[in-house]
Amino acid sequence: MNWLKPPSVSAVKEKLQKLPTPPKPKFPDEPPPGPTQPTFWKSPLRGPWMTSIIGSALLPLIIICAITGFLSHAAYNPALGDNSFFPAGGIGIDPYFFTWPTRPTFLYAFTQGSHIIAGCLAIPILFAKLWSVMPKLFEWPPLRSVAHMAERISLALLVGGALFVFFTGLLNIQVYYPWNFSFVPSHYYAAFVFLAALALHVSLKFPTIRKAYRDRGVVEPLRDDLEHTEPEPYDETTTTALEPSAPTISRRGLLFTVAGASAGIGLMMSGQVIGGPLRKIAFLAPRGRQPNSGPNGFQINKTASTAGIEPSKTGADWRLKLIGATKAELSREQLLAMPQHTYDLPIACVEGWSTTQSWTGVRLKDLADAAGRPGASEVLVESIQEFGSFNKATLSSGQIADDQSLLALKVNGVDLSLDHGFPARVIVPAIPGVHNTKWVRRMTFQEA
Ligand code: HEM
Repeated sequence: MNWLKPPSVSAVKEKLQKLPTPPKPKFPDEPPPGPTQPTFWKSPLRGPWMTSIIGSALLPLIIICAITGFLSHAAYNPALGDNSFFPAGGIGIDPYFFTWPTRPTFLYAFTQGSHIIAGCLAIPILFAKLWSVMPKLFEWPPLRSVAHMAERISLALLVGGALFVFFTGLLNIQVYYPWNFSFVPSHYYAAFVFLAALALHVSLKFPTIRKAYRDRGVVEPLRDDLEHTEPEPYDETTTTALEPSAPTISRRGLLFTVAGASAGIGLMMSGQVIGGPLRKIAFLAPRGRQPNSGPNGFQINKTASTAGIEPSKTGADWRLKLIGATKAELSREQLLAMPQHTYDLPIACVEGWSTTQSWTGVRLKDLADAAGRPGASEVLVESIQEFGSFNKATLSSGQIADDQSLLALKVNGVDLSLDHGFPARVIVPAIPGVHNTKWVRRMTFQEA
């Protein structure tokens, strides 16, 4: 045989024709009893209009979540130092071409707050969307052709992706991880799968949506009260009911209930972001995260004991090691003797909460000067915390150069508590909270 000469197309075709055809999956013509029966689904409210209007409410929220989610990833500056969550750079999906700015100072509180509020607003609407298309999930026969199989796979990715992304996000807000995979890469990559499946879904459904709005109008069905609520005409290719029951709620009744649930959850979540007395109504926020009192009495995700910080390492022997063109070791007293600056800055957490406090400390750029690296290109900040995530972070040149970027020694006029990072912690405007490294032990500045 001549291995170098490829076989002709006709020879390949001939060979393929001779291959035995794979058996088609056989399903009985009659659907089994239960949800696969077209008469099983009785709601007179289901149909393309209902699904289109719920989908149209869901789409903008998903777009906000997608934009702010990718912005959050950019805020972690994955291109710098060890900031990437992904071992060996992951699969290289880091399409960021800008450095995260330090102004406005509430930038990350705003983008991440919007992310979790939009995500929580979307959850009741997502349930309503799934309810509206439920009959389609039990379609019979489950597989009709190769094209149908491809469509079903894309729907499995859409529904599975949506449930995975929303529920891992919701549990992350609770700082609760009942799984043994890493949240960030899973949530991030699942978002790509979900968004790709959604883009395909919306483009495939676009003609159905257009027809539904053309036939029935966008808001006209909302005018009908219960008495005038009629089922959409039956069409076996849609979610309309073959034998609809009499309505027990009008379309507007159903939609206002969903909108009410969504607005209620959104309002409660905004307490997480805005803080103050509103935080008390943040129903979905994690509880008991304020172990300190007095001027240090504000949110904490990681306490000193959970981070394994031994008090002996933060006592009088503690020194801040500065590494650059020169090396220096500074005690807390020496740091306090340097020019001190005070700014009101938020800590904005990836879980969505934020809180603004008054921080006092030494400017990072003064520490860069002390390390012999004025205008440093980046700094690696390392914590006393030996194990676990976020015990170090790399900050960019812009973040070092900002006047308000501090190595904080005090908060609200008193020494930092151990839980808030005593003897010294970083606080930089507009960055994700976890990059404000606590219990700092070493800072390595890179050449400008
Ligand atoms: C999380 C996002 C979404 C999920 C999980 C989802 C899920 C589904 C599923 C499983 C179906 C049934 C399969 C089918 O009819 O082929 C469906 C149908 C449909 N979806 Fe979505 N969808 C989502 C977003 C959207 C959005 C944003 C829109 C509109 C802007 C939309 C509009 C529609 C329409 C018009 C139908 C057909 C309804 C009918 O035939 O009666 N979907 N969706």
